[in-house]
Amino acid sequence: MIILGIDTSCDETSVGITSDLRVLSNVVSSQVRFHQKFGGVVPFLAQRLHKERIDQVVELALRRTNLTWKRIDAIAVTQGPGLAPALEVGIQKAKELALAYKKPLYAVNHMAGHLTSCFLQVGSRSVSPPLYPILALLVSGGHTELVINSKPGHYQIIGQTLDDALGEAYDKVAKMLGLGYPGGKLIAKLAEEGNPKAFSLPIPLQHRKDLNFSYSGLKNAVRLLVYDLKNGHHDIILRQSEIQDVAAVFQDVALDSALLKVKRALEEYPEVKFLLLAGGVAANTVLRKKIRKVCKEKNVSLKVPSNLKLCTDNAAMIAGAAFLGIQARQQPEKPQIIDRKPGWTIEEASLS
Ligand code: KG4
Ligand code: ZN
Repeated sequence: MIILGIDTSCDETSVGITSDLRVLSNVVSSQVRFHQKFGGVVPFLAQRLHKERIDQVVELALRRTNLTWKRIDAIAVTQGPGLAPALEVGIQKAKELALAYKKPLYAVNHMAGHLTSCFLQVGSRSVSPPLYPILALLVSGGHTELVINSKPGHYQIIGQTLDDALGEAYDKVAKMLGLGYPGGKLIAKLAEEGNPKAFSLPIPLQHRKDLNFSYSGLKNAVRLLVYDLKNGHHDIILRQSEIQDVAAVFQDVALDSALLKVKRALEEYPEVKFLLLAGGVAANTVLRKKIRKVCKEKNVSLKVPSNLKLCTDNAAMIAGAAFLGIQARQQPEKPQIIDRKPGWTIEEASLS
């Protein structure tokens, strides 16, 4: 089945085309450099840029597959979660295309898209199919959650962040250190040269028995650490080695706290033999290494997206999620009435 997916949930305008779970094209037009000077994504600027780019991105995604509209079986679009003004552009375009080319239109949850990214096949490399029940750690700029995917289209959130998302914490710490946006990749790079034990910071929610996460306390602890290193003078610039150490300490504690919850979840759900790691932060090599070790200890297989582009926002994952949904009897939407769902959780998106 050939599906054209659209994602405009945040600051990437993306259109991807899949044949079942194989990626035929995956165009991502990033707006990052426009938002950089504001230190984060500005929703109405994102909307304007999505509007300017969406037609070109649709056209390019199609052109890269050499397919005509006739060959497209369905259209899929991110309905939420995401920034309302940004989501609106993708939904509007998906409606227009579904009506113009008489294609069924499927609504996809963005986090279900991230989860599905682990099953997408790129090129001739084969990817083993999902083996349920699955535990997924979804870590992005807006979300940090542990999800049990018991069967296709069925999701239960068993743990989530009580405040900041993991990617958001990376971005905020990067800002404190005077680095650019988005900060995840920059912090990860600096951390490679730093000493993760240079300072001691507490692991968030270490002693709580539940599976929730919290990063705002850690973020504030890093703020205080930076303040101390600057002796209380904001205008002092930290030495490169100090920045590297702060980045390494933050990353170590943040990732260890996530790992702790993954371990606990695997203990609470021993029937799970398959762990997925997805979302923008899944691109982090230290996280992958640490999680691989936990999976080995617990005798669980780990699955990550087969390339880094599939970790961050992209629309091939939206088309892929629609394919799995359709296989699980998901019904198409009425294009006339489909609307944005900015706060839509993956659990709410479960098929009935
Ligand atoms: O999934 P994503 O592209 O967008 C959302 O749906 O939020 O995730 C973006 C997040 C940003 O916070 C970014 O800083 C983080 O993923 N990120 C990373 C890395 N690459 C991207 N965080 C840690 N290490 C990385 N290598
Ligand atoms: Zn995302």
